[in-house]
Amino acid sequence: MPHIVVQGGTSLHGTVRVSGAKNAALPMMAAAILTDQPLRLSDVPDLLDVQTMNQLLSSLGVASSFFQNRLTLQMIDEGPCLADYELVRRMRASVCVLGPLLTKRRQATVSLPGGCNIGHRPIDLHLRGLAAMGAEIEVRSGYVFAQARQGLRGATVSMAGPQGTSVTGTFNIMAAATLARGTTVIEYAALEPEIVAVGEMLNAMGARIHGLGTSRITIEGVEALSGGQFTVIPDRIEAGTLLVAAAATKSAIQLANVEPSHLTAVLDLLGEMGATMTSLGDATQTLRFDGTNVSYPVSFDALPYPDIPTDLQAQLMSLLCCLPGESRIRDLVFPDRLMHVSELCRLGADIRLDGNAAIIQGTGSLSGANVMASDLRASAALVIAGLIARGETTIHRIYHLDRGYEQLENKLNTLGAQIERMDVARETILRRPA
Ligand code: UD1
Repeated sequence: MPHIVVQGGTSLHGTVRVSGAKNAALPMMAAAILTDQPLRLSDVPDLLDVQTMNQLLSSLGVASSFFQNRLTLQMIDEGPCLADYELVRRMRASVCVLGPLLTKRRQATVSLPGGCNIGHRPIDLHLRGLAAMGAEIEVRSGYVFAQARQGLRGATVSMAGPQGTSVTGTFNIMAAATLARGTTVIEYAALEPEIVAVGEMLNAMGARIHGLGTSRITIEGVEALSGGQFTVIPDRIEAGTLLVAAAATKSAIQLANVEPSHLTAVLDLLGEMGATMTSLGDATQTLRFDGTNVSYPVSFDALPYPDIPTDLQAQLMSLLCCLPGESRIRDLVFPDRLMHVSELCRLGADIRLDGNAAIIQGTGSLSGANVMASDLRASAALVIAGLIARGETTIHRIYHLDRGYEQLENKLNTLGAQIERMDVARETILRRPA
């Protein structure tokens, strides 16, 4: 199995460009089901989840060509309506085809996404919303069977769940409502920039969506949507990951293709730890970041946008492990998203769990070891921990990283890190504890 080996103790410098956002690209791709015309997307990150979405769309009659981060999607067969378990189990975001299929083809059979390493992830809000819009929904044999023989109709739908709003749920209802009869109101809609970006794309395709970026989105249904050409917004989670890596190694770096307004809470938190940053405000959207004085522990809760994202919780935990003093983290979006804690402890971190809170006593340093990635963002957290640790850290199950980052280790190497990908089994060097 491929794994990566990180040599700790290097500092980072230089500039890298942040890729387009995975979490914007995936729903934008699913929106190709809504139109008979070509949809051209640029700055699509070349990563496993995008390939999985491409395969899923292909199985649903959408042809694609992907070259140098440019993706063209064109619906060629409106017949297929089945999103099979084999593809859906690989990526939860596959559920984004449900709303588009149901509104355009009036029928959808989508495998239930199932369990996930970051905790229980139901799709009840998606299903309740679509049912309120007139869909007949049955869940059996691990599949959602949904149909709307007369087409969907507008309704008032709430996205309020026990852990706040749902991001892909908001997308599914918004996409379904674009071609529904009448007006749909989404209460407690997700505020995430990726939802705003996909909503703006749908509007440019002819949809009538109002209130994007607010917790009430109103959609007036239209007869049809056109295609078009759109650019995927910068990935705020990748940018945040690279900034946390710079802070953890007390480095100064520059990132191009960053939208700082999407990262306000994260930049504020890093500022509290002692970092400084300047947005150059130029065409390259460059952010200059100085993490050389990062030394103060902080406590935070991961919450829906515009707060600290759950998708950066694990990476920030790695950073806090090396800042002397106590910090406390709770993930209020996925309260059980703490599988990385035990792996960080294998690297010498001092983290105690108190219910769903992680209490971190910064040890000042970590030491290299073999560790196992449990999910996408946890693997990035372990890479960051490896950069901090003395000696060599080997990270197994690295395919998680490839699901959601475009060449993260190459970008870090461009900045001066020493990370090597091993595709064959390599003898592990057993070291005596220092
Ligand atoms: C999206 C992101 C993911 C991010 C997550 C939270 C994409 C492709 N993925 O995932 O990277 O970690 O938002 O920011 O954009 N919930 C319910 N019922 C539902 C749906 C969700 O109770 O029907 C709960 C979930 O269990 C979770 C919370 O709501 O506790 C938020 O989940 P949700 O926003 O739906 O996550 P995703 O859209 O799957």
